[in-house]
Amino acid sequence: MRKPVIAGNWKMYKLLSEAVETALAMKPLVANANHCEVVIAPVFVHLKTISDRLEGSNIKVSAQDCAPEAKQSANTGEVSAEMLKDVGCSHVVIGHSERRQFYGETDESVNKKTKSALSANLTAIVCVGEMLGERESGKAEEVVKTQLLGSLDGLTVSDMERIIIAYEPVWAIGTGKTATPKQAQEMHGFIRQTLTETHGKETSDKIRILYGGSVKPENIKDLMAEADIDGALVGGASLEAESFSKIVNFNG
Ligand code: 13P
Repeated sequence: MRKPVIAGNWKMYKLLSEAVETALAMKPLVANANHCEVVIAPVFVHLKTISDRLEGSNIKVSAQDCAPEAKQSANTGEVSAEMLKDVGCSHVVIGHSERRQFYGETDESVNKKTKSALSANLTAIVCVGEMLGERESGKAEEVVKTQLLGSLDGLTVSDMERIIIAYEPVWAIGTGKTATPKQAQEMHGFIRQTLTETHGKETSDKIRILYGGSVKPENIKDLMAEADIDGALVGGASLEAESFSKIVNFNG
């Protein structure tokens, strides 16, 4: 019922020529992947070129962030959601843990950015996830619930149709430590329960919840077998066409 999403977050990797080369190499490798949506998220300055080069393919393009302000305004260094849409993006990642940890992103700014993304008709991939200490002290669910409530505050049921949630436990990002499928499923089930409380069961049943954190070709199948895991947000393993396409083709 929920179409899976496999999204590659390229973070601050690749020069333009390398990004184009990887994107073009991915194109034929994922061309038959009708079972899922395929998304890649290069850096801002590559978005226009990549989306032009991928036109007509089944790979969608996402930004990694957007401005909280929706309107064109005096905000040096920022890029609005409308501008992302204008250069060919369909998605935007919001509230990634690296932005929360290193760039002062808060649930409040995530909420504003999410609303801006929706007003520009972008699909927002809203990220949540606890730190290692929070998991070890038994606070993982509390932390994730607070992030969800703050990030999604004020969104209507119809807004939720263009929201994807990404659960990325910070301790599993880039560390090679994946949450076990069971650990991930427990949190995904909890997230869906929370979304049922806020927006009703009919809506929460439709929302895709992606897992992120050391996803690789070797572990995607077991993760995807869990009831509430609807895809993956992939970092390191999305940087090479071959490993990313193996993750996309997890059903093969
Ligand atoms: P890794 O797959 O490299 O652990 O990164 C996950 C991530 O942060 C995706 O957004």
